[in-house]
Amino acid sequence: MRTTVAIIGAGPAGLLLARLLDRAGIDSVVLESRDRAYVERRQRAGILEQGTADALRAAGAGARMDREGLVHTGIELRFDRRRHRVDFPSLTGGRSVTVYAQTEVCKDLIALRFRGGGPLLFGAEALAVEDADTASPRVRYRHEGREGVLDCAYVAGCDGYWGVSRAAVPPALSRTYERTYPYAWLGVLADVPPSHDELVYARHDRGFALLSMRSPTVSRLYLQVPAGARAADWSAAAVWDELDLRLATDDGWRLERGPITATSVTPMRSHVHEPMRHGRLFLAGDAAHIVPPTGAKGLNLAVGDVVTLARALVAHHGTGDPTGLDTYSATCLRRVWQAERFAYAMTAMLHRDPAATPFDDRLQRARLDRIAGSRAAATDLAESYTGLPFG
Ligand code: FAD
Ligand code: DHB
Repeated sequence: MRTTVAIIGAGPAGLLLARLLDRAGIDSVVLESRDRAYVERRQRAGILEQGTADALRAAGAGARMDREGLVHTGIELRFDRRRHRVDFPSLTGGRSVTVYAQTEVCKDLIALRFRGGGPLLFGAEALAVEDADTASPRVRYRHEGREGVLDCAYVAGCDGYWGVSRAAVPPALSRTYERTYPYAWLGVLADVPPSHDELVYARHDRGFALLSMRSPTVSRLYLQVPAGARAADWSAAAVWDELDLRLATDDGWRLERGPITATSVTPMRSHVHEPMRHGRLFLAGDAAHIVPPTGAKGLNLAVGDVVTLARALVAHHGTGDPTGLDTYSATCLRRVWQAERFAYAMTAMLHRDPAATPFDDRLQRARLDRIAGSRAAATDLAESYTGLPFG
């Protein structure tokens, strides 16, 4: 098989890149190891930055998001049983975010691809990227029990943290920056209207809690749990009791309970692989970088990467101009490191580290008080949360 751009992975990064290339008339083949139902149901991100929503619209993939997504103009910080709202538009010159699940973004992009784009093969596992540093790289893959080779001009490694593309960058040229955290997130999906109309990020002595949502009738909630905790160890009643404790306020606010339809545990890590390019291989999204989820940056970084990459590929393929490809890694990494900074700061401010001293606790509260009391500090949060420019 032969194509111009071999795209490994049909998460948000691979699917949006495929869409952008389809629109520019550049052919591509998407290889995805899992099946369609799995990709469409995997519960993950929920918050789209303003720039991400704009990018989906510009790609002709924003119609359902504009109908069904919920525009949010702020978040609430909760600590010491008090609430403080951060208002985005007044702090950022009018920016907001959209609550629209990653599952729905993927469904929309898959439907568009099948409606007239190039091939998207489910159950096709990339085994290795070869000759990435030549003008004719290729991807070895396995599909329906048979091994094949995909010859191409460029490879987009959009295969997430566990994918194979990153391994094609020689170790001598790679640098990895990493941090792990001594806690994880237990996430539940519940058939109950959200108990607040905006997201609530709560710091509590028992640990972090987050109230989010998927729609006006479905809540998404998260609890900080110890690293290595298992979803099976948490009964529904225990989840609700713990959420009640950590989200409690003194003003009569109540958390509504409902049937839990899914439970999962997400480990937390920060990880950056540099560079994001090796020859004709371009890493994008979680394949190159991971942020801890506090701050909702992962999906948004993936979108920023592929918007930058699509622009560069279109220029190089059309006119031979290599500038965009040559600057791809540095351009993306500037934004990636800003997101790493923000996700780390939000995580450290809101989670209870098992090794925390009373001094650390006081510092956390001082950070929250600073955001509640200083327009400058609140502006920094609002600008980062609604998203920095794609570059
Ligand atoms: P992925 O979505 O991981 O997609 C990679 C794809 O490649 C997968 O479909 C995988 O099956 C496939 N693949 C892997 N290996 C191979 C192979 N060898 N061959 C072929 N295919 C392969 N981000 C936000 O922006 N906002 C949020 O609110 C948010 N919340 C989150 C909450 C949770 C609980 C979690 C877990 C994550 C959250 N994130 C959030 C992060 C976000 O989900 C990821 O950053 C995003 O999925 C990255 O997209 P991607 O396309 O780079 O990678
Ligand atoms: C969600 C996930 C996040 O990481 C976050 O910061 C906010 C919301 C969510 O899944 O809804």
